[in-house]
Amino acid sequence: MFNNFYYACIVIIFGDNQSYKLYMNFEFTEEQLMIKQAAHDFAETELKPGVIERDEHQKFPAEQIKKLGELGFLGMMVSPQYGGSGLDAVSYVLVMEELSKIDASASVVVSVNNSLVCYGLEKYCNEEQKQKYLVPLAKGEQIGAFCLSEPEAGSDATSQHTTAIDMGDYYLLNGTKNWITNGGNASTYLVIAQTDAAKGHKGINALIVERGMEGFTVGPKENKLGIRGSDTHSLMFSDVKVPKANRIGEDGFGFKFAMKTLEGGRIGIAAQALGIAAGAYELAVKYAKERQTFGKPIAQHQAIQFKLADMATEIEAARLLCLKAAWLKDHGQDYAQAASMAKLFASEVAMKTTVEAVQVHGGYGFVKEYHVERLMRDAKITQIYEGTSEIQKIVISREILK
Ligand code: CAA
Repeated sequence: MFNNFYYACIVIIFGDNQSYKLYMNFEFTEEQLMIKQAAHDFAETELKPGVIERDEHQKFPAEQIKKLGELGFLGMMVSPQYGGSGLDAVSYVLVMEELSKIDASASVVVSVNNSLVCYGLEKYCNEEQKQKYLVPLAKGEQIGAFCLSEPEAGSDATSQHTTAIDMGDYYLLNGTKNWITNGGNASTYLVIAQTDAAKGHKGINALIVERGMEGFTVGPKENKLGIRGSDTHSLMFSDVKVPKANRIGEDGFGFKFAMKTLEGGRIGIAAQALGIAAGAYELAVKYAKERQTFGKPIAQHQAIQFKLADMATEIEAARLLCLKAAWLKDHGQDYAQAASMAKLFASEVAMKTTVEAVQVHGGYGFVKEYHVERLMRDAKITQIYEGTSEIQKIVISREILK
């Protein structure tokens, strides 16, 4: 249904007489369509088998992530010079949607590795850091984690209690990070920590921490409502010596690093929410055509038709917001507000659509074999991580009012 029409591009050209032309191109390129198809096929053949069991047993999709890495999906926007696939953010949205229709526990790894880890390393690190840390992550040989949240610093991200004390040629890292995606499986961790509390957010640094550094321990896996296959842990740092060479950017750049990185991350999570919604919607349409009540398929009852119409319309609006944010990023324009709008809207649509998809399925929707109850549980996290819906409204309203 939604194949060729979503790549929106608006160009305004002012001539001598100040008249203007408006172009909108809603077509994807052949390459983008190919990538989307590849992600779709991967989701159907590699992610779908076992997705219910992985959810039930909270099993990390390790083999599937390895294959996604080999296919270039884990560093898909990184330049080939650093081992990535050199694709655009529009392709990233297409991939995230397709993977998330089936398995959001796997797609969050793609999102975090691409947006929160590889993007930050490529954009803000020096050549030595890129060669050492970015290349294996972009090639999918390793996965990374982004460590901002703490037991007492979630939405209020400047309130960092983890400390990175300047000891001359190294930082002494102490503290705890919470709810860290890929926490147990990552090799490289980007850790945000306070170096100089007197300077507030200007005294925060971002450090590259390696798994295995002395004093660094990983807590038990969290037992979660949704994305149960994903690997969420708390991390403890006790007198970990992190070399100065592992600091990202200038002293005090850590908070801005986190904020800039999260802008792109929010496009990934918006597209994940879109995929969860679209997956539930597709299952609801299929079921509605098959299930009979009162002598006809339920798709012929207006009560169901109106639900499907609402779902389709809202999903389409969410998709356009995701693609617009990605397009702005690809064209070097500011995308913070667009990314927050996409995440705010798509995550609300994911929650609403999945609840309705369960309702369309009736009693079958309440059991695991029909997938929609899992999608409903998975949808919830998209309203919480990488900035809650309320945080997105703060970002959007500040942009409007500045
Ligand atoms: N780009 C660059 N700089 C930015 C910025 C951005 N997008 N947003 C803020 N800043 C800068 C500000 O300009 C300011 O710097 P100056 O004083 O030099 O101007 C500084 O950062 C502090 O900004 P604010 O005063 O706006 O800070 P605040 O305390 O009011 O908080 C906030 C702003 C937007 C609410 C921020 O705290 C925030 O985004 N919170 C949510 C955090 C979040 O998303 N956490 C998710 C965890 S990661 C995760 O979930 C990953 C996972 O595993 C899946």
